[in-house]
Amino acid sequence: MPDDRNHPGTDPRTLDPIFSPRTVAVVGASRKRDSIGFALLHNMVVEEFAGAIYPINPSADSIHSLKAYPSVAAVPDPIDLALIAVPKGAVPAVVRECLDAGVRGLVVITAGFAETGAAGAAVEAEIRDLVREHGIRMVGPNCMGVINTDPEVCLNATFAPTPARRGSIGFVSQSGALGVAILNVAADLGVGLTQFASMGNKADVSGNDLLEYWEDDPETRVIAMYLESFGNPRRFTEIAKRVGRKKPILVVKSGRTAEGARAASSHTGAIAGTDVTVSAFLDQCGVLRANTIEELFDLAVALDRCPMATGNRVAIVTNAGGPAIMATDACVNLGLEIASLSDETEERLRSFLPAEASVKNPVDMIASATPESYARALDIVLDDPSVDLAMVINVTPLLSNPIDVLESIADATHGHDCPVLAVMMATEEFYEGIKARGDLPPVYRFPEPAARVLAQLSRYSAWRRRPADELPPEFDVDDAAVARILDRTGDGYLPAADAYRVLELYGIPTAGWRTAGSPESAAVAASDVGYPVVLKGEARDLVHKSDVGAVAVGLEDADGVREAARSIERRLEEAGQRVESFLIQEMVAGGHEVIFGISTDPRFGPLLMFGLGGRYVEVFRDVRFGVTPLTRPEAEDMIRGIRGFRLLEGVRGEEPADLDLLADILLRLAQLALRHPRIRELDINPFLAAGDPDAAKAVDVRLKVGEPPNPAG
Ligand code: COA
Repeated sequence: MPDDRNHPGTDPRTLDPIFSPRTVAVVGASRKRDSIGFALLHNMVVEEFAGAIYPINPSADSIHSLKAYPSVAAVPDPIDLALIAVPKGAVPAVVRECLDAGVRGLVVITAGFAETGAAGAAVEAEIRDLVREHGIRMVGPNCMGVINTDPEVCLNATFAPTPARRGSIGFVSQSGALGVAILNVAADLGVGLTQFASMGNKADVSGNDLLEYWEDDPETRVIAMYLESFGNPRRFTEIAKRVGRKKPILVVKSGRTAEGARAASSHTGAIAGTDVTVSAFLDQCGVLRANTIEELFDLAVALDRCPMATGNRVAIVTNAGGPAIMATDACVNLGLEIASLSDETEERLRSFLPAEASVKNPVDMIASATPESYARALDIVLDDPSVDLAMVINVTPLLSNPIDVLESIADATHGHDCPVLAVMMATEEFYEGIKARGDLPPVYRFPEPAARVLAQLSRYSAWRRRPADELPPEFDVDDAAVARILDRTGDGYLPAADAYRVLELYGIPTAGWRTAGSPESAAVAASDVGYPVVLKGEARDLVHKSDVGAVAVGLEDADGVREAARSIERRLEEAGQRVESFLIQEMVAGGHEVIFGISTDPRFGPLLMFGLGGRYVEVFRDVRFGVTPLTRPEAEDMIRGIRGFRLLEGVRGEEPADLDLLADILLRLAQLALRHPRIRELDINPFLAAGDPDAAKAVDVRLKVGEPPNPAG
């Protein structure tokens, strides 16, 4: 894992010798045609690098018609970048030689370092420290190299078989092999890049450095990343939240977190172990996540070519009904709204469309639609203030040229500040023909991927509209008292009374409760709480109380409490347990059952969870996660983001939940988790979310403490 020792700071200009060198030494350049050393030099030459190339090889006088030198030290001119592809044993000496010769940047292709184990990691750390001591930067080792398509530079310092064309996407890949695939897909789709970097082991330069490198580069309008891990999530958050306000950042993150397999007894812990943590983290950073490289390019092209969306209401214009229904379904499933067009818009459409056409959204112009009708209809629809996004669908009819249709769509789009995507159900030949046409709207083969892109455009612009300077609120609570309670339990679940006290100290409403040591005192405590009551038997390591019959509800009087307490004692005895105490709790009814949770991730720190609670957690897993620190808009997003959110708003006359209170509780829990790292897991399940804030209460809580995890690196 890269560390920040001697990190040369965040000045992105330190990467200039790597991306924009005037002189490049290819160390390990080879005459063997099928070798990496040959491919590197070959790419540099055929891409017509604008500066000078110096092949370095101890036993060749010339390679690829270029004079070769036996060592970097033998080169008479200053070298900006050394591209190193010598056997791994020779790498430390070559790096030293480069540093002594005043080389200003390194790209180390050679593999066999940290990825192979401790010995390799030690050599890698030694090289990194040397490089940092000299104040220069290094990409790799174990990488595929870097590309800069700037016509002033024309650097292809990779051994990839496919070159990159000029464009506006900066791409960084953590995997070299995938880097090759990325360049292939980009070429296939006709998408261009500004720069490309394969990071390899990220010993020195990381994805974070690249984000900063592209932050103020006017040519790079979209940043795309293929990531396998986050070396330093905190630094990523800080940088991504800042850079993401200037240009979109897209990520394909592969792999599930290692914690996925971890056994966790709380619901929050069990669900948090999966990939959702990464999604929550990226969401909060304003970073858009794609599942595949193709999806990533679909989105990147749209972000590059389209203006920002103003909302999530979509207009669909089509010449065929079926695809429009597919588009509508896909949009609605992704949380987009189908815009209601105004009467005026419908009238204007009606004035020129055939009587059989539908002027309601989706606007179906039927198969006779011409390129002109597309231009006219789209222009009218985009005039309607209720439209934030548009999808235009064309199924190529007989005798019509889809290129003409697409050009009409482009013309109509120009006069409007609204993202417009085209779905062209056309031939391969058509797609070949538009590859190099950066002047056209983004084009998709089917409505579903276009709908996915629209949803992401709308989400990104909503994130950009949020105030950038929102800070997590601070609640005035007695943290010393909380710490005293948490420290009473060494490792494991807190006694219920302690868990409820922690919630109360943090201002989280709980159902009234008392504890008692015997059936008799339970009956006394019940009258303090007020009937009807719930009685719960507490025993060591008893987590799922109702499974063993340790919970009795709706007890109306002292006799009932005594009797229930005795039968809980009996049942636990039969299960080999002993009742340590009873919890007598106010019986609360009504409200929506929701769950709040805390879990901890060694990389991302404390995580918050919110969702539908009670038994629904296990069945639907309708939950959202948030990473800490958490701001109010982020807490609100978590609540609004669950699929069952409409239930909380109250359907069919049901009372709506107090949503402000729910957000408030999430924020309080975020503070609790951050200030008390001994908290390992917490479930408040259910919390009864009533409309009346006085009636909304936690009715069950489990809180587990233990050693804090190692801080994220
Ligand atoms: N200075 C300059 N050149 C040197 C050298 C030195 N100190 N030591 C060796 N060389 C030359 C060799 O003479 C050879 O040139 P030649 O073919 O003209 O003889 C060339 O460097 C390569 O050496 P070779 O012994 O053929 O190395 P190799 O076959 O082991 O390949 C690597 C070298 C770097 C390609 C290989 O070690 C490697 O790491 N491969 C994996 C790369 C990889 O997968 N990277 C990650 C991609 S995502």
